[in-house]
Amino acid sequence: MDPPGARLQARGTMAYERRNIADMHGYVPGKQLRGAETLKLNTNENPYPPAPAVLEALSSITGEQLRCYPPAAADDFREVAARLHSVAPDQVMAVNGGDELLRLAIATFVEPSRPIGVVEPSYSLYPVLAAAHGSPVVRAESDDDWGVPCDLAERMNAARVPLVFVVNPHAPSGKLTSVRTLDALARDLEGVLVVDEAYVDFVDPELAHDAVELTRAHDNVLILRTLSKGYGLAGLRFGYGIGAASLMAPMLWKTRDSYNVDAIAQRLACAALRDQAYARETWAKVRDERARLSAALAERGLSAPASQSNFLLAAARDAQRARALHAGLEERGILVRYFDAPRLDHRLRITVGTPEQDDRLLAAIDAIR
Ligand SMILES: Cc1ncc(COP(=O)(O)O)c(C=O)c1O
Repeated sequence: MDPPGARLQARGTMAYERRNIADMHGYVPGKQLRGAETLKLNTNENPYPPAPAVLEALSSITGEQLRCYPPAAADDFREVAARLHSVAPDQVMAVNGGDELLRLAIATFVEPSRPIGVVEPSYSLYPVLAAAHGSPVVRAESDDDWGVPCDLAERMNAARVPLVFVVNPHAPSGKLTSVRTLDALARDLEGVLVVDEAYVDFVDPELAHDAVELTRAHDNVLILRTLSKGYGLAGLRFGYGIGAASLMAPMLWKTRDSYNVDAIAQRLACAALRDQAYARETWAKVRDERARLSAALAERGLSAPASQSNFLLAAARDAQRARALHAGLEERGILVRYFDAPRLDHRLRITVGTPEQDDRLLAAIDAIR
């Protein structure tokens, strides 16, 4: 008799996968080296911890709150977020990390096998989610300045794309596209425009950038926000979407998992958003350090374009030097991100750390010949 599982192994697990899943590659996250000495400047986390009020909310969680299911649509959180952005609660939905909103948007707005639009380069999860859905990807190269190409709407409409992802500030460059440009794009696009604002908290407040106003003017704009970066809560897995009520309703009431955000996360997320003063203080510190680090990198021949995010895309003289720096830093316990891709293979994406962390990075760069 066959040992248990032998028949399964003989057939291979491929036998059960859908064709497109068998053919695709999964998302490759930034490396996670263990050890207190490792300096992680590769996944754009906030170098500062969440607000003390978040940790107080965590320690006040009771057994009774865990025994029961959480509010299915995170009503308290939606009210807090709606107040913060001056929108109605039915324009907001809570998600288990911003990534969940990306997946939900595809499941809700894209017929299987219809294409998904992306600007290249950008967040490498978009094509992975498209492949999992069985959708081809229509790619439009960002302009020389990392901006959204001016004919994006025309090209996406010509390819009959029902959903386009635009990350703003752009990743991996940090370039900010203006609300005016996005407004014209939303007006001209026939499909849904997802404005992925994972890093928007780090935008200089003097620019008065607020894309939420687009959701009042256009019923096809979905804004993604996350607590992973600006609020120092990447470990919690909490994000939210903002859009016209008509756009949010099918995701909120049909395609969302029944209890997609847990009771602990809902409470902590409310506490984080309520303490805007604390969050703004960390954003200001990151912005100050971004300017210092950018200048210090430029002095070392590693210039980066102006970034409105919490990372810098530093260009080395060539791909060989970028690879040597990436490997040399890792040997010294410092992780930065290297993408072996067109336009990126001579660059390093470096998360802005604390001044002390960045001093360690700069000293290590100086030591790598
Ligand atoms: C551009 C972009 N969008 C969305 C996300 C999703 O973030 P999270 O799922 O942690 O909320 C990330 C995370 O790195 C990102 O870089």
